[in-house]
Amino acid sequence: MDSDSRIEAALAQAMAVGRDADCPSGLAAATRHAVFSGGARVRPRLCLAVASACGEDCPAVSDGAAAAIELLHCASLVHDDLPCFDDAATRRGHAAIHQAFGEPLAVLAGDALIVAAFQTLAAGAANRADRLAGLVGLLSEAVGMPHGIVAGQAMECEGEIALEDYHRAKTGALFGAATMLGAAAAGHDPRPWHQLGDRIGQAYQIVDDIRDVTQDSEALGKPRGQDDRLGRPSAARTYGIAAARTRFDALMTEMVASVPECPGAATLRWRIVNESAHFFPGLAAEPAA
Ligand code: IPE
Ligand code: IPE
Ligand code: MG
Ligand code: MG
Repeated sequence: MDSDSRIEAALAQAMAVGRDADCPSGLAAATRHAVFSGGARVRPRLCLAVASACGEDCPAVSDGAAAAIELLHCASLVHDDLPCFDDAATRRGHAAIHQAFGEPLAVLAGDALIVAAFQTLAAGAANRADRLAGLVGLLSEAVGMPHGIVAGQAMECEGEIALEDYHRAKTGALFGAATMLGAAAAGHDPRPWHQLGDRIGQAYQIVDDIRDVTQDSEALGKPRGQDDRLGRPSAARTYGIAAARTRFDALMTEMVASVPECPGAATLRWRIVNESAHFFPGLAAEPAA
């Protein structure tokens, strides 16, 4: 099975809990919409690419890790779009969850997806208990305090925000988890893999910040101009578009240099450079620097 099929199969399995006759139908529909409405699946792809580069020996563990990361990402988007955060009416070309199902179900759908992520991680590692504690610890750090997604979103409630810290927490942390969990799922030391994920995450957010100004809402599948409207720190607003692209190019160089030695290192380096559309789908729509 190719990696995209593995990701969809693992997500379908993770969301089977919503098909239980006892599950409230609104919650089941809202969580399904949040997961299966067309995301680029970049983080789970990265997780599986690293697991494969490390000589993956237990695909069930990496599938569980990849799906868990995507579920947490979907949860973060549901909560991010709520009126109390970015108040965005659309996501992935569809109505945002609170628009389609109402705010209470959007809050609960995000909560349910966070729980489902850890359930999925645990189920995937059911036969590798020796790896599970490490995986749970890494994933928790990526979403919680003091440096995870939640902390990144909370920075928006502070007066001064340093752009790089904000990008690292709200986006880089989950990409760091994607590379580290890919390695840990394959039985490798995850720490040397943090830098690669962190750099990809920062670069990914720079592309998102540029596209927020250069693309229209239809191409984005979400409202354009959100960073200006909300007064958010953004690479495009802070550096200007040309300098943001230069920063992206520098991060690309750092990415390639940061791939740790492993059986598939050369292939992974080649893929980062030559298959950038796989890891940065939005980039194809942007002219080069
Ligand atoms: C959106 O992430 C939020 C950012 C961190 C930029 P994606 O651009 O990966 O969103 P989907 O999953 O493809 O919808
Ligand atoms: C991305 O934040 C990170 C999270 C959702 C946690 P943004 O607010 O920049 O992402 P979009 O633009 O809504 O996708
Ligand atoms: Mg936001
Ligand atoms: Mg947002």
